[in-house]
Amino acid sequence: MLAGASHVSTQVGCSFSGLRERLREATSAAHRALDTRLSAFDLGGLAGYGRFLQASAGALLPLEAALVEAGVERMFADWPERSRSAAIAVDLGRLGTSAASTVSVPRLTRSGVLGTMYVLEGSRLGAKFLLKTIADAGDPRISEATTYLRHGAGERLWQSFLVKLASEEPGDEDEIIDSARIAFDAFERAADRA
Ligand code: HEM
Repeated sequence: MLAGASHVSTQVGCSFSGLRERLREATSAAHRALDTRLSAFDLGGLAGYGRFLQASAGALLPLEAALVEAGVERMFADWPERSRSAAIAVDLGRLGTSAASTVSVPRLTRSGVLGTMYVLEGSRLGAKFLLKTIADAGDPRISEATTYLRHGAGERLWQSFLVKLASEEPGDEDEIIDSARIAFDAFERAADRA
């Protein structure tokens, strides 16, 4: 079911920018691969859900740390509202664990911040499908550990991210796209370890 939900719709923000279209195109294969990968975890079972959270935290924590290091808050004043490191730590804590292994990621330039933010903000969009699987499984220990997946539900943060992306000066598009690929790769590597 998750694999079926994995197509990346052209509906969201398609009127915004050519850069967003380029980002989606350049990362669609990586998105599909990651979606297939994460969908293979049994999210309805404690062990599988724990592995999913470990895989997510293994990339999210270092990517968010790199964003902070690069001054993400100067570009996104609402960063505290967007950050999900604390949320995923809460969920792992509820499962009686903490982030086991994180991947290393490069330092980010301003363009790197945008490409990384594209991937992290976009990753919220699949959450409603994952939450449905969890709800169907009906295990309260898992449902109570979904702060990360519920974080910023709705598309407000995604839409306001797209507005910001569209307002960027063209020129560093290749670097933005490279950093989005690197962020997807960080999730792949974290999934390898989980
Ligand atoms: C099993 C897990 C996942 C599922 C089922 C899923 C599903 C989806 C869906 C349905 C959309 C389109 C939403 C819409 O257009 O309204 C989407 C968009 C997106 N997802 Fe995922 N996703 C998953 C995991 C991830 C992860 C882990 C990342 C990044 C690390 C990610 C990054 C993105 C991005 C960047 C977009 C926006 C693409 C665009 O520009 O339109 N997704 N996802």
